[in-house]
Amino acid sequence: MAVLDQLTSQRAIDLENKYGAHNYHPLPVVLNKGEGVFVWDVEGKKYYDFLSAYSAVNQGHCHPKIVGAMVNQAQTLTLTSRAFYNDMLGKFEKFACEFFGFEKLLPMNTGAEAVETALKLCRKWAYEVKGIDENKAEIIVCENNFHGRTTTIISFSNDSVARENFGPYTEGFIKIEYDNLDALEGALKSNPNVAGFLVEPIQGEAGVYVPSEGYLRKAKALCKQYNVLFIADEVQTGIARTGKLLAVHHENVTPDVLILGKAISGGVYPVSAVLANNNIMNVIKPGNHGSTFGGNPIAAAVAMAALEVVRDEDLANKAYEIGELFRSELNKYITSSNIVKLVRGKGLLNAIVIDNEEDSDTAWNICLALRDNGLLAKPTHGNIIRFAPPLVMTKDQLLDCVSIITKTLKPFED
Ligand SMILES: Cc1ncc(COP(=O)(O)O)c(C=O)c1O
Repeated sequence: MAVLDQLTSQRAIDLENKYGAHNYHPLPVVLNKGEGVFVWDVEGKKYYDFLSAYSAVNQGHCHPKIVGAMVNQAQTLTLTSRAFYNDMLGKFEKFACEFFGFEKLLPMNTGAEAVETALKLCRKWAYEVKGIDENKAEIIVCENNFHGRTTTIISFSNDSVARENFGPYTEGFIKIEYDNLDALEGALKSNPNVAGFLVEPIQGEAGVYVPSEGYLRKAKALCKQYNVLFIADEVQTGIARTGKLLAVHHENVTPDVLILGKAISGGVYPVSAVLANNNIMNVIKPGNHGSTFGGNPIAAAVAMAALEVVRDEDLANKAYEIGELFRSELNKYITSSNIVKLVRGKGLLNAIVIDNEEDSDTAWNICLALRDNGLLAKPTHGNIIRFAPPLVMTKDQLLDCVSIITKTLKPFED
């Protein structure tokens, strides 16, 4: 069999099962084409994408402007490493710094790498600027966080599946309850060695937990009071997903360190970045950190195009409006539902909670039925289904999706 022969869905799944590590449990659907809010499986069935590759494809699948930028750059210069300058990176850094309101950017490739970068930056700042004694710096994180999969990041996760048998774990993290300002203040007050507070403005993987209004603003103020860096992980919530360019903008917060990934490239190419002002970023010196691919010319071209699309197509406002419509339509359904407890979220990062045991397979079965009815979504943590379509969705498409979702839910009602 030639590798590029057209496969049936079953054959593609069998191949992955046999030759791929079993580190995911995908919904059984095999995709081979995407355009805007739609994807197609290898048998030609069309679906609404209601996951957007975990909020990476905010600009829609195969956006022509972003793909065009990639193809154009790929035919010109792909990779120089940072051993030499290239003519794209500086342009991207300037563009992104002005776009997000920071003085400097450090480019990486994946979300987890950007989180690692922010942790290293925070520790170095702690020793060299704040004056914490060597090896004593601690970073506050939240329970039920998700920041990626590296050994250090899983060291402060409380997901047993992500952690088990991957020890020994990295030290230097303090875990507190999410959305609890007293816990944050307690941890800051009692410990002069705290260097930073790493937080997701909405906990996406945990099940789209939106913190109480004012939480982020007050947490930022507490960090300022105790001279601790407020580090926002906006890998999933950023780039217009929640109805603002950044989720922290809902509370007019500017983080000290901003972590971006996923939709900074529109899902076209792995690009991530850490942004901060000079007083923080200048602690990084040649040799302290890097990546062969980080800041390569394709990444730079793609990311600039992807951010231009967010601006030119007004995706933040679109996500805000369509997200409101989505929740209000689903709330109408929920008033008479026995199975859906609630819908929550901001913009187009939403989830429904199925009124069921966390370990029941109802949410999974609903996702299978949604697939059969032409819409792709995935449970996150047992009884929660995340709904995060591309932000280029029109109002009519959204209403069509709501009717698919409600029609699918009905047979599951008691
Ligand atoms: C908030 C957050 N941080 C970091 C990551 C890790 O990103 P990546 O999978 O690109 O390493 C994710 C991925 O879902 C995320 O949601």
